[in-house]
Amino acid sequence: MTNQNYIDQLRLPIIQSPMFIVSNARLVIASSKAGIVGSFPTANCRTLEALDQEFTEITQALGSGKDALPWAVNIIVSKMYARSNDDIELILKHKPPIVITSLGNPKEVVSKVHEYGGLVYSDVINLYHSKKAISAGVDGLILVCNGAGGHTGDLSPFAFISEVRSIFDGTIIVGGSISSGDAVLAIKALGADMAYMGTRFIATEESDATEDYKQMILNASANDIIKSNKITGVNGNWLEQSLNNAGINPNAGGIQSTISNFKKMIMPFIKQKLKVDFDVSKASAKRWKDIFSAGQGVGSISNVPSVEDLVLELEQQYKESKNRIS
Ligand SMILES: Cc1cc2nc3c(=O)[nH]c(=O)nc-3n(C[C@H](O)[C@H](O)[C@H](O)COP(=O)(O)O)c2cc1C
Repeated sequence: MTNQNYIDQLRLPIIQSPMFIVSNARLVIASSKAGIVGSFPTANCRTLEALDQEFTEITQALGSGKDALPWAVNIIVSKMYARSNDDIELILKHKPPIVITSLGNPKEVVSKVHEYGGLVYSDVINLYHSKKAISAGVDGLILVCNGAGGHTGDLSPFAFISEVRSIFDGTIIVGGSISSGDAVLAIKALGADMAYMGTRFIATEESDATEDYKQMILNASANDIIKSNKITGVNGNWLEQSLNNAGINPNAGGIQSTISNFKKMIMPFIKQKLKVDFDVSKASAKRWKDIFSAGQGVGSISNVPSVEDLVLELEQQYKESKNRIS
């Protein structure tokens, strides 16, 4: 893919976003075959052999070269991720049509992926990183906004999209709480090109999430999502029920909590903030695997369909929403 016209050929402008523990080749293949863009993070494969195998499975199912259905792989571009260079070698071998970079400077990846005709999108949470990615030559920016599953941003899409659009005419993809066809249409109205949907795809037949995880998503509403930097060191969104199951009480804790409770009394709007102050030091549960991440869009999720059925459902919502406002 040497240009971005592929978006117009999609059934819906959606990237099923990469999710640690959850995404797999089945989900990628089902998404791309259903007419959206599937993706997975390289970190989901424990070894390079497993990653090589995953790439092979996907390219066999979705084709390669110019005729391939669009799909994407997500790579962490940082010295903190030891396998970064080896993963890039495998990317160059299998040539995924789209490469999504997280963290770090995407410059090197951009030149290598452009050489084989692929596109590079970088995920960003603020204008500073958007500008850096733009100067590195990326084809698209993924604006991870407030309420997103996984590591979340803080900005409202209403603010972020227009600021980025004013300095960037490439592809703008937006993530954060988008779980319905209506929301996909909404971010297009704001000037974005595509939606980045994660949480909605956790509750699908093809995802690798456990039954407990899927059930928790079905039971949850936006109020059950706790934003915290205590689990991984940076702000992420977590299902409160899974924190409770791990013996972590986000509303209790040491001295920070006491201070926060005081703030709570005097300033109700700090309530959301104080939930970042809790003690996880004694919990043995594994983050991501036992402590489940999800975005605020959980409240719109009430079934666990196949990806094909989900895309049909989203398409119907998208069309109904369009009719409603036209
Ligand atoms: C369980 C889970 C794991 C995630 N893992 C990754 C990851 O490995 N790499 C990445 O770039 N983003 C990851 N994300 C973030 C998503 O790609 C995306 O930004 C987010 O899901 C969009 O918000 P939404 O979940 O509200 O739809 C993860 C999200 C979730 C829910």
